[in-house]
Amino acid sequence: MVAAATLLFSLCTTLSRLNLVSAAIQLSAQQLAAQYSLTTSTAFPFPTATQSTGDTQSLITSKWSLAKGRIQDGPNNLDFVSDPFPNAPPPTGIPSNNSTGPVLRVTYPSGSFSHDTGGAQLINLWNTSDGTSFGSMIISYEVAFDSGFNWVKGGKLPGLRGGLDTTGCSGGSQANGQTCFSSRVMWRKSGDGEVYAYIPTPNHLCTDSNIICNPDFGTSISRNSFGFESARWNRITMLVQMNDPPNVANGNVRLFFNDIQALSTGDLQFRSASSLSINGMYFSTFFGGDDPSWATPQTTHTYFRNLQLWAGSAPSNLTGSLVKSAASSQTLGYGGLSGIAAFTLFTVYLL
Ligand SMILES: *[C@@H]1O[C@H](CO)[C@@H](O)[C@H](O)[C@H]1NC(C)=O
Ligand SMILES: *[C@@H]1O[C@H](CO)[C@@H](O)[C@H](O)[C@H]1NC(C)=O
Ligand SMILES: *[C@@H]1O[C@H](CO)[C@@H](O)[C@H](O)[C@H]1NC(C)=O
Ligand SMILES: *[C@@H]1O[C@H](CO)[C@@H](O)[C@H](O)[C@H]1NC(C)=O
Repeated sequence: MVAAATLLFSLCTTLSRLNLVSAAIQLSAQQLAAQYSLTTSTAFPFPTATQSTGDTQSLITSKWSLAKGRIQDGPNNLDFVSDPFPNAPPPTGIPSNNSTGPVLRVTYPSGSFSHDTGGAQLINLWNTSDGTSFGSMIISYEVAFDSGFNWVKGGKLPGLRGGLDTTGCSGGSQANGQTCFSSRVMWRKSGDGEVYAYIPTPNHLCTDSNIICNPDFGTSISRNSFGFESARWNRITMLVQMNDPPNVANGNVRLFFNDIQALSTGDLQFRSASSLSINGMYFSTFFGGDDPSWATPQTTHTYFRNLQLWAGSAPSNLTGSLVKSAASSQTLGYGGLSGIAAFTLFTVYLL
């Protein structure tokens, strides 16, 4: 009986991972952008010939509109190289752009983990000339992993970020709903894929079956809803829409893997203040994790190409629940303040 149930469960898991349970939704990034009327777009410029790491850093620093005008971590781990997998495009009928030019290689030195010792990290600010702030954004890119890539326990991959606070909302610095959020992609063991976000977690979000919360770090959304493959190109398209108004949890994330929808979650709270919006690409990739158990045992690489963004000013229009707890400026009204006052008095009394 138990064995049969286990078998049924694993069959369902496999089927849902393959998207066979419900009809698969297939959309290119362009089609998804059209569906949400995201009419503004940009592509990160790549060179026409391979480049040394020094020239690579110059190109990125001068042309990718970086926060504080610099590559935050691991500039020496970046260089533009020839495509190592020219005959292994993403397994989808939608062709790749620019599939013949150089690609951006990221190096993870042997023993490295976290952004301090391997990979690279940079924050792009997509500043429009008219000062528009973005309530919705799509990031799309293609990523390849070295042949025989050892996934270890996992690592970060690029996503989106909001707020001009360049140190919050990653690396164990919690989101407060006011100054920043991040929504990256992660690979886990065996190449399992997920969205990994630093966002508030109100309304018992952590009890949702597709959510895994970690009190010290980010929130995992739909772990193992897709799977990366090494030695070939994999295409990621991720939509993020701010919740609106700020005290309603209707923030939206949809991720398409090789143009097939892998996850969709429309009950998130990214912000508790409408001043927080989406600022651009968060190119962040490293093994980890923040301790040596995440380290790569050998020097290895990933490769990126066709990094593109689409955006629009309108946030999510989904129906959502009012935020009842945690990280909302709305809930820190009279009740919240008197709670803090009571706690302070109690602490003083103890001292
Ligand atoms: C290729 O670029 C064109 C023009 O920017 C765009 O319409 C299309 O969606 C892109 N295709 C992919 C697969 O990124
Ligand atoms: C909500 O947004 C979607 C995507 O832009 C759009 O198709 C839909 O018509 C909107 N719904 C309402 C009720 O405005
Ligand atoms: C983009 O705008 C932000 C905030 O207004 C500013 O700090 C930053 O310097 C601008 N970046 C670029 C590359 O123009
Ligand atoms: C493809 O390359 C052309 C020319 O280098 C560039 O203008 C375009 O933005 C690139 N497209 C993408 C999606 O990277």
